[in-house]
Amino acid sequence: MRTQVAIIGAGPAGLLLSQLLMKSGIETIVLERRSREYVLSRIRAGVIESGAVDLLDKAGVGDRLHREGHVHDGCNLAYDQQMLRIDFKSLCGDHVVVYGQTEITRDLYDAQDALGANIIHGVDDVEIIGADTDSPYVTFKHDGQDKRIDCDFVAGCDGFHGVSRQTIPDSVRSEFEKIYPFGWLGVLSETPPVNDELIYASGPRGFALASMRSPVLSRHYIQVPLNEKVENWSDDAFWDEYRKRLPQSAAEALVTGPSIEKSIAPLRSFVSEPMKWGRLFLCGDAAHIVPPTGAKGLNLAASDVFYLWRAMSAHYNDKDGALIDRYGEDALARVWQAMRFSWWMTRLMHLFPDDPAFDQRIPAVEFAHLQNSETARRNLAENYVGLPY
Ligand code: APR
Ligand code: PHB
Repeated sequence: MRTQVAIIGAGPAGLLLSQLLMKSGIETIVLERRSREYVLSRIRAGVIESGAVDLLDKAGVGDRLHREGHVHDGCNLAYDQQMLRIDFKSLCGDHVVVYGQTEITRDLYDAQDALGANIIHGVDDVEIIGADTDSPYVTFKHDGQDKRIDCDFVAGCDGFHGVSRQTIPDSVRSEFEKIYPFGWLGVLSETPPVNDELIYASGPRGFALASMRSPVLSRHYIQVPLNEKVENWSDDAFWDEYRKRLPQSAAEALVTGPSIEKSIAPLRSFVSEPMKWGRLFLCGDAAHIVPPTGAKGLNLAASDVFYLWRAMSAHYNDKDGALIDRYGEDALARVWQAMRFSWWMTRLMHLFPDDPAFDQRIPAVEFAHLQNSETARRNLAENYVGLPY
């Protein structure tokens, strides 16, 4: 087989890149390890930056998001029961849209079907060969047969545990990582949200987040120790602890119900440089991981895809290779801004019980500054809604 761009991974990054490239007349083949059903079963975040919404519109997959998504003009921080609303609209004239990421993946699959995309599921043993040459190719197994795709470029959209990042030699790669000493225990329930906007709550018992997918589907998180096990948490135990961490108004509004999904996710900040090596380009979680506090995971994948789509369109359609050469620098500039913000918001909102007393004192001071300074609130708002591409 031969194509112009071989894409590894059919998550949000891979599917969005394939959709944008195909709409620009560029051929792709997408290789996905899992089944389509598995990819669509993953519960992921739901806050979409307006820049990512614009990109989804350019990809022709924004219709249902605009119909069913909910525009949020602000979010709330609660610190020791004090609520502070961050008004995106008045502070920076922007907003976010709450729309399940699984729905975005579903919309992308439907759009790729309509374009006749070549997405091969159930592949194994993917290997990227000759990425540092002018004739790269990808080998893999499918239905027990050895396969090969010759291509011009390879896009590594295969997530944190994929093969693409590891293809870049250790001697070339630099990794930057921070592991946080806690995880997030998340619950999905078919109950109304406690509030019409998200509430990030911090207090003496730890962090909690009240989020949602729709007026009848809510998403809830609490900070738990790194070694915590999900089987230690009955629904009742979760709701009891969650209620204690929410500000009183939200705790009183809480409607509990059976969890339809319950899991614990670790938190890490991670960046691998470079994001371009020869004719291999990393996008999304293949290159970086953010703690979910800043709701940046999917949104960073979207900006990586934007820079790569723009670069490849210039290469193929305008015979201009300058943006291809700059892809890594362009993508990393925005990645590191989101890394900083996600790290900052994670430190602001979580307990770090093993930190020195001085460090543990600072979040309350940060929160007081946010209460007293419109400039501080504007800085938070600009980063939360997403810095420009
Ligand atoms: N071969 C083929 N496919 C692979 C391989 C491999 N060796 N390794 C991983 N994959 C597939 C996974 O099965 C997954 O479907 O690559 C895809 C990667 O998707 P994600 O992990 O969702 O990563 P990405 O597309 O970058 O999404 C970025 O969106 O998923 C949310 O918030 C989440 O931060 C994440 C963001
Ligand atoms: C979610 O709804 O899953 C969600 C929302 C905001 C975050 C993280 C997760 O910062």
